[in-house]
Amino acid sequence: MFGGLDVLKMAIIKLLSFVACVWVVSTTGHEFFSSMDQVMQLVEEKRNLLEQFNSFINAEEENLQRLRSGLEILRQLSYFKDPENPTTDPVAAYKLIRQLRILWLTIIITTEKSPYIDFQELLFSDVLKIPSEEDVESGALALIKLQETYKLYPVNLTKETPLNEDEAYYLGLNAYVQDKFQHAFHWFLYTLIIFNETESFNSIRAFTKERLLEHLGSSAYHFGSLPVAIYFYQQLLKRDPTNEDVKYMLKLCRNLRFYRTSNPDIFTLNTESTNSYEALCRGEVKQRTSRRQRTLSCRYSTGGGNPRLILAPLKEEIEWDEPRIVRYHDIISDKEIEILKNISRPLLSRSRVGSGSGTVSNIRLSQGVFLEEDDVVVVHVNQRIADATGLSMETAELLHVQNYGIGGRYETHYDAGDQQNERISTFLIYMSDVEIGGATVFPKVGVALQPKKGSAVFWYNLHKNGDLDLRTMHAGCPVLMGNKWVANKWIHEFGQEFIRPCSLSEWE
Ligand SMILES: *[C@@H]1O[C@H](CO)[C@@H](O)[C@H](O)[C@H]1NC(C)=O
Ligand SMILES: *[C@@H]1O[C@H](CO)[C@@H](O)[C@H](O)[C@H]1NC(C)=O
Ligand SMILES: *[C@@H]1O[C@H](CO)[C@@H](O)[C@H](O)[C@H]1NC(C)=O
Repeated sequence: MFGGLDVLKMAIIKLLSFVACVWVVSTTGHEFFSSMDQVMQLVEEKRNLLEQFNSFINAEEENLQRLRSGLEILRQLSYFKDPENPTTDPVAAYKLIRQLRILWLTIIITTEKSPYIDFQELLFSDVLKIPSEEDVESGALALIKLQETYKLYPVNLTKETPLNEDEAYYLGLNAYVQDKFQHAFHWFLYTLIIFNETESFNSIRAFTKERLLEHLGSSAYHFGSLPVAIYFYQQLLKRDPTNEDVKYMLKLCRNLRFYRTSNPDIFTLNTESTNSYEALCRGEVKQRTSRRQRTLSCRYSTGGGNPRLILAPLKEEIEWDEPRIVRYHDIISDKEIEILKNISRPLLSRSRVGSGSGTVSNIRLSQGVFLEEDDVVVVHVNQRIADATGLSMETAELLHVQNYGIGGRYETHYDAGDQQNERISTFLIYMSDVEIGGATVFPKVGVALQPKKGSAVFWYNLHKNGDLDLRTMHAGCPVLMGNKWVANKWIHEFGQEFIRPCSLSEWE
């Protein structure tokens, strides 16, 4: 039993070192990180894999018993009974030669189909949905991106789910190779604290304390925090007094320190906003903006006397005036949302930006699908969008349902370009609440819209003269906690000529 544990432990350490040292990016994979909904399936997948391993071992045990009784039978069969005098009797010699040949063939046939081969085939088949190396790396990068946007230390991020030293160390390495030395330093420090607590235990670990101290020194050095770098290099030298590389780094740091006047504080994350998108995501709305937002109004709308809306008027709230952004509350029921999610789940594939470009998106971490009007719920939702906006759906795109992944976000972009028949307006339905993060923000006007399940927001991307409204640049903030689902309807110019007459004025 002890031997088996050792074998497994060695295999895990070998794998961890591999994961930590080699930056393999495989191009295939299931890309779980881009949809939280698929992440949930991994729990089931893990249980399945252990169950499969168990069934394999049971089969292996049966197989061993079968082989052993086969051996007994071979030993006892008179067919293989040793002939007498094979060295003097040529017939006995012939008999022996033939017996050995047949025995050999029998064993080959009996052992030909090793259960290991079948099991390995299963392990590499598509039946098992195993995250790729790229999935693991992207998951790590998504967490680091969350830290950057929301200014989070490892302790903030791991409040709900503590990481072990290997998991934390791997995050540090990922931040380090991305030149994010401060975040790398904080993850290595987090790792060191756990390391100190567990050092006396015989835990599974892919790295040594020396490696960790070297990374701490190196992160601090690259960040420019020389006294901190010197401290960790000194710690390292105490444990490894003959290490010439460390002596060299210590000398370098001391020399540089003499000349350099700045000493950035590596322990404190800079909370000054360099980027209005990130500030908005963190909820830092300007005083002026929030005052202006409060004066905007709510009302019931019948879409100018639309018969479908007279009995059930829409709850309309003006979220912003210039550009006009309208929120419709309770535009879709929980039941309808559940059905749309159920239809979409099997169809979701990694989001692709633009139509037919075929490249997987690096700026949007989500999975999306366009829904045909095969289901009555899709028809109803599309009709409600037509009623609310008063626009023709004739040239609109199909309803697009999206589920975001770990830290899922969509960086700043415009929905429209400068081609013919552009996306004149966007109708964005929130199909979930998001516990923390995930706001839709308009950095040029300083507006942040919180997802609210069942509501939708609507705006025009184009001025009446057909030019792009530059104020409609927007982004989806990273999801810090929650499973964000949205549905988009992009409505195009053609077909709206008599509904929203175009204008030659530059100002409309
Ligand atoms: C993160 O944790 C630090 C230290 O505990 C705390 O001061 C800070 O307010 C936390 N930040 C956030 C965004 O929760
Ligand atoms: C870890 O332990 C070492 C030696 O026991 C100590 O010098 C160091 O300050 C500890 N570091 C942390 C982060 O607790
Ligand atoms: C959606 O799918 C789940 C799981 O398959 C099922 O339990 C549920 O009843 C479905 N909901 C609707 C509204 O069809």
